[in-house]
Amino acid sequence: MKTHEAPYACHLFICTKSRGNKRKSCGDGANPELTSLLKDEVKKRGWKPRVRISESSCLGVCDAGPNLMIYPPKIWLSDVSLDDVPEILATLEKLLAE
Ligand code: FES
Repeated sequence: MKTHEAPYACHLFICTKSRGNKRKSCGDGANPELTSLLKDEVKKRGWKPRVRISESSCLGVCDAGPNLMIYPPKIWLSDVSLDDVPEILATLEKLLAE
């Protein structure tokens, strides 16, 4: 195994886990456009080399979903919708300025 420093200032994980409405899960309640919209905005702002947007499986806090987590500051955003995109981008901008 080799250890490397992560190349991103921020890595945002969007939970897309779906359980087919058998149990609450982010993928059953989230807008499927969220990932592409955030990726487009990150690219448009020139943040792409420093900000990574990834879809993930369960982040372990299903009942509060749809969930999104930002590392390294370990920010957990819950009950996320497309309406929250401006606030998510403002959070990323603030983190990049630190
Ligand atoms: S299904 Fe999204 S946190 Fe568990």
